[in-house]
Amino acid sequence: MHATPRWPDLPGIAFGGDYTPEQWPRDVWDEDVALMREAGVNLVSIGIFAWGLIEVREGEFDFTWLDEVIALLHANGIRVDLGTPTASPPAWFFANHPDARAVTRDGVPLGFGARGMASHSAPAYREASVRIATALAARYGDHPAVVLWHVHNEYGVPVGEDFSPHAVREWRRWLERRYGTLDALNAAWGTAFWGQHYGEWDHIGAPATAPSTINPAQLLDFARFTDDQLRACFIAERDAIRAHSDRPITTNFMANQHGGCDLWKWAAEVDVVSDDHYLWAADEDAEIGLAIAADLTRSVGRGAPWILMEHSTSAVNWQPRNIAKRAGEMARNSFSHLGRGADGILFFQWRASRSGAEKFHSAMIPHAGTSSRVFREVTALGGDLGRLGEVRGSRVVADVAILWDFESFWAQGLEWRPSEDLDHSERVRAYYERLWRDGITVDFALPSHDLSPYRLVIAPAQYLLSAADAANLTAYVASGGVLVTSFFSAVVDENDAVHPGGFGAPLEPALGVRVEEHLPLRHSQAGEIVLDGAALAVDVWQEDLVVTSAEVRAAYTAGPAAGGAAVTRNVHGDGVGWYVSTRPDAAGLAAILASVYRDAGLRPAGLPAGVEAITRRGADADYRVVINHSGERVSLEMSGTDLLAQADLEGVLTVEAGAVAVVRTSHPQQEQQ
Ligand code: GLA
Repeated sequence: MHATPRWPDLPGIAFGGDYTPEQWPRDVWDEDVALMREAGVNLVSIGIFAWGLIEVREGEFDFTWLDEVIALLHANGIRVDLGTPTASPPAWFFANHPDARAVTRDGVPLGFGARGMASHSAPAYREASVRIATALAARYGDHPAVVLWHVHNEYGVPVGEDFSPHAVREWRRWLERRYGTLDALNAAWGTAFWGQHYGEWDHIGAPATAPSTINPAQLLDFARFTDDQLRACFIAERDAIRAHSDRPITTNFMANQHGGCDLWKWAAEVDVVSDDHYLWAADEDAEIGLAIAADLTRSVGRGAPWILMEHSTSAVNWQPRNIAKRAGEMARNSFSHLGRGADGILFFQWRASRSGAEKFHSAMIPHAGTSSRVFREVTALGGDLGRLGEVRGSRVVADVAILWDFESFWAQGLEWRPSEDLDHSERVRAYYERLWRDGITVDFALPSHDLSPYRLVIAPAQYLLSAADAANLTAYVASGGVLVTSFFSAVVDENDAVHPGGFGAPLEPALGVRVEEHLPLRHSQAGEIVLDGAALAVDVWQEDLVVTSAEVRAAYTAGPAAGGAAVTRNVHGDGVGWYVSTRPDAAGLAAILASVYRDAGLRPAGLPAGVEAITRRGADADYRVVINHSGERVSLEMSGTDLLAQADLEGVLTVEAGAVAVVRTSHPQQEQQ
């Protein structure tokens, strides 16, 4: 069950960032709040890494400085997102509780001096984190400045998996709860293979370093367990806060890291979804990766407005090459998030740190100070967002869903798969990118969701698909949906066991094909298929398909499957199931999807190249958020009011190279009246 989303009490769109006054002398604080006002900042996150300065010794609290900071912010009309500092326990904690350190898979207890080294299964950590969350909530839970709680920071990073004795003990309990009996566990894990049968719960270890690859069902369960442990920590802190405060509670996700947290489950536990997003500098079309993360963030929150809790004004400091953003890029990034449902745009961090590991990370006030391009752009962004209060609460509507299932992602990523070229994220990106370029807005969904609102559902990488979820997808097609499934899908069930009947068997009714054999290609080996008379290049993967009821839309003409079916289309009930058994290049995928769009009644938006346009639907109007990533001025047919320029349009919106626009337009229904 999802908690009902609750938005913090804030005027308009939230704007601000992480604020770390504890790193600065007192006189800088006054300058900070004055500059925040100048920049239009209305929300800052504080206290996230300040545990040792609040609980100075175990059980001994000093709130003096925090009282003062919160009072200062309040006096200046800046709202507070109050952090619980539990991502980084202080030195005294580890000195008092050396057993509460996380242990690596090689058995090494982690040392102090970085952050996030606690074992999430250690009773001392659980107790201490609830104690500090309670103390903060009891003191500030009703403070008028505090409008949001920010529990912990980026669960699972830098440490999620833990192989400590505490973790092993909890893992065994978790398994007992999940399976009830050892017989059930042995069956689910297939322990008859390699003689792994268990006769005692206490004989089950965490999947630490072993001589060869570890039982994949065990690894998949360990990923589930790890995620559950992290979430239990969040829930304990959240409930401790709720006992003293009615303000909404969040924790910042990392949707673009696709890491160890199943965000569908996490989103159900927070009052408001928030996400941290950093561009992958090596990605030359990083705005597409950003859009994926933003759409995933909105989707896990089931469409409710969300907060971009952190992004960067310019470079980060932890990638191999930290590429600085150039003029306008920070605004374009911000508006892409806003267009995709964010009602808060915040940064890491307000003022660049002089010391420590992150001093080369950009900030709202860079080391160069306020006479800088970055600060000028920050101030301009604050002004622009200030004009968009009416956009808040409007929602993105999508006709297409792409399946994103964290468990399938985890499972596919395990060792000893048929080819190292199988890449879940890569396939999702490829399909998403085509839709992005066609200007078609996408939600993400689980295969268990009600998919009936979507004209088209794409499963680019659904390696793990339970029989029940396959039945849901099949019913979606039968009742008129269009489903596209890419290769290496529906291979295993929830225990990483191959489906009875073979690869893809549970989707056979919907797709009209079965996979007889996987045919991975050699590195750089090219294949070819022919679709509607046109030859299309494929690589990485082919399959021997057995066509049971589908129409063959493209056949292999080169490669190990030459002569066999490559792309198929199957009418099932009132809908259509497509199967793409190989990896086409971008042009090939475009050609296949063009046919799919016809089945689904979809049309590309016809946007100029490099232009992103997303619609948010409000109660009384639509808001078109337009981002021009290209180097050319573009014109789009559009009527309404340009909210940033504060001007009415005469049927055409012109957006300068690299610029953005937000246009209030009438609802399509209103236009028909
Ligand atoms: C993460 C963290 C922040 C900071 C930034 C810097 O998102 O949450 O505390 O470390 O990265 O990249």
